[in-house]
Amino acid sequence: MFTTTLSHPSPQFNQIPNDLFTAINQLKKELNAVILAHYYQYPDIQDIADFLGDSLSLSQQAASTNADVIVFAGVHFMAETAKILNPDKLVLLPDLEAGCSLADSCHPDIFAQFKAQYPDCIVVSYINCSAAIKAMSDIICTSSNAVKIVKQLPKDRPIIFAPDRNLGKYVMEQTGRELILWQGSCIVHEIFSERKLIQLKIENPRAEIIAHPECETAVLRHADYIGSTTALLKYCQQSSSNEFIVATEPGIIHQMEKVASTKHFIPAPAMNNCACNECPHMRLNTLEKLYLAMKFKQPEIILDTSIMIAALRPIQKMLELSR
Ligand code: 13P
Ligand code: SF4
Repeated sequence: MFTTTLSHPSPQFNQIPNDLFTAINQLKKELNAVILAHYYQYPDIQDIADFLGDSLSLSQQAASTNADVIVFAGVHFMAETAKILNPDKLVLLPDLEAGCSLADSCHPDIFAQFKAQYPDCIVVSYINCSAAIKAMSDIICTSSNAVKIVKQLPKDRPIIFAPDRNLGKYVMEQTGRELILWQGSCIVHEIFSERKLIQLKIENPRAEIIAHPECETAVLRHADYIGSTTALLKYCQQSSSNEFIVATEPGIIHQMEKVASTKHFIPAPAMNNCACNECPHMRLNTLEKLYLAMKFKQPEIILDTSIMIAALRPIQKMLELSR
């Protein structure tokens, strides 16, 4: 369903240099490129990025960069947002298959029918959605500004919130506003087990539970702190606690251990004994693919111009209301 073309040039995999860090830094200079990365990326990608952040700060960086090329180490909807903000720039995604279960849960044709049932509604869409859904929205939000944005909307208008029902429920609780929810969810954040979390807390009574608002209410009700990835990172730096149970994708623990090296971070347990709390989409990007993307200037994000124009307005509105 992606409106992009070009798959990865796999035969070139035998052209990968030994010192990838040096090679990537060299390409960065040659291309005047910036590498933007999300906290759920592998540690080596986080370490080579020019900027690491949550969805809001990555969008803000994309909106203000002077680079000619944006290499987006994240998932498709994030790279699409960078492209919408920079239609004339080359935006590369190391693996074009790096999607998002939440974004995929909201098909544009079905969402158009859903929206048509509520003609007076303001449509607030979480940034984890496709460019086509953004184009049908009035305003975009992220996990770090959803509450702030919904609080600023006119009280006399009903609101559709899509696609994440868990973030939507959290926003309802925080704002006291009734939202019409699209029933999407994230496969990673829904996998945490409340029962195992309680058990882990009993075993580690001094640990604070910190959680992303994409988690289910049953998990969030045990959290000492709820926030976006950047907010969770700041919280464990500032808190007087030395131990944290982290209910979000465990890639962020690499940064947590960097910024709070004396503290201890325990990933929240999944329902089964798998590594299902690792985002399979985010983890499709590797340092090798990032190098190849820069060397061959593909895979590139290409979007329909009319969708980009329509999607820009609600993204800009979010950036204005987040200042
Ligand atoms: P953040 O904006 O909090 O980084 O969330 C992005 C995401 O995809 C969470 O699953
Ligand atoms: Fe999408 Fe969930 Fe992965 Fe975030 S963690 S990119 S919401 S599937």
